Amino acid sequence: MNLKESIIEKIKAREILDSRGNPTIEVEVVLANGSIGRSSVPSGASVGRHEAVELRDGDDSRYNGLGVLKALENVNGDIASCISGMSALEQLSIDRALIDLDGTANKGRYGANAILGASLAVARAGANFLDVPLYRYLGGIGHNTLPVPMLNILNGGKHARNSTDFQEFMIVPVGVTGFAQAMRMSSEIYHSLYRILSDKDLSTNVGDEGGFAPPLSSNKEAVNLILQAINLAGYQAGKDCFIALDVAASSFYEDSRYVLSCEDVVLSSAEMINYYADLVAEFPIISIEDGLAEDDWEGWEQLMDRIGGGVQIVGDDLYVTNPERLARGIRNNVSNSILIKLNQIGTLSETLAVVHKAQSAGWTTIISHRSGETEDNAIADLAVAVGASFIKSGAPCRSERLAKYNRLICIEDELGTGATYYGMASLFNLKKESWKH
Ligand code: PGA
Ligand code: ZN
Repeated sequence: MNLKESIIEKIKAREILDSRGNPTIEVEVVLANGSIGRSSVPSGASVGRHEAVELRDGDDSRYNGLGVLKALENVNGDIASCISGMSALEQLSIDRALIDLDGTANKGRYGANAILGASLAVARAGANFLDVPLYRYLGGIGHNTLPVPMLNILNGGKHARNSTDFQEFMIVPVGVTGFAQAMRMSSEIYHSLYRILSDKDLSTNVGDEGGFAPPLSSNKEAVNLILQAINLAGYQAGKDCFIALDVAASSFYEDSRYVLSCEDVVLSSAEMINYYADLVAEFPIISIEDGLAEDDWEGWEQLMDRIGGGVQIVGDDLYVTNPERLARGIRNNVSNSILIKLNQIGTLSETLAVVHKAQSAGWTTIISHRSGETEDNAIADLAVAVGASFIKSGAPCRSERLAKYNRLICIEDELGTGATYYGMASLFNLKKESWKH
């Protein structure tokens, strides 16, 4: 193999559509030996205020202003000139060149969508050049553990109008020994939930991430329905399967108050913390993401103090996969876990650095999709490569969600007897005595 052949010869972007039917960017990188890497970029709905910039055209005559032709031109023009001639195997140098080229703190000049598309397509091309799977290329021989899936089977918040205030009610199938078994349990629970909703004459339409989105009057009602579904499928909540929430609290934070319109209550930060303390005392909930708003740092500290010993406290909008915000979180002990989204920061190398920083602090990491997805399954490989405890990719429904889970089933199969499943060990940093069974 001639390493000189790993030089980037061509890079090209096109405008494709995501799972919501909105435009997004796909990037293709071609190397001197003909190896190709292709990547497409997802898009959020409950976007954190501190995320890197997703460049949209704002031209109302196309796609309601959501076109990405400017981002596309940035890839085909300046980004292509910048990294052509570099070796695809030099990921860090390429990502640094892209960061320098952009020159802003939030990738506002070229767009995080343009930059990430290029960064990930380069990684794919590098793996293809060496003829190794992406998880091996990114993770080496030391990473053979499959993450626990967190499956959002009931959607609310910004992903499903008229449903709950909380955005996501997830099942966490820890009590099995393999990833494929975890998916079987999850699918059976999902279909039990379908039956329960049908029997109650509740809507079985699904939200953006494939979970059901019935009109419910409280968040507790949603948790109760999921507990019934776990039971109906023949599994034991609090042993085989736990529940996790993504509250996405920034989406209902107004004038320093949490407005739960479904339940018709308005709570202060301290009251919200009491609400969670009661919830985890009553139900087998082991993880709460974005329980408080993205800039309510004091609230986060108190929430962590109060229930963080036994519950995974996850920052998504709080950290936006940003190293400086993560550093503040570690310094002030405001959580014990971080959600990782590549497009919140905009390059693969920066994402890897954030994962390592969180892991060094003894935190769990959750590699995550966005509510607007594509069929790209790179996050599945990334989760294995970094030894992440969890992957969050929506319900076991809709192919853009399943693309990631199915890729993990394939990786598990490929690893054969070398594969392990994280299972209960995924919750390594929690004290289990306080759990509700
Ligand atoms: P988003 O939601 O992709 O719409 O931002 C996902 C999440 O909040 O985790
Ligand atoms: Zn979230």
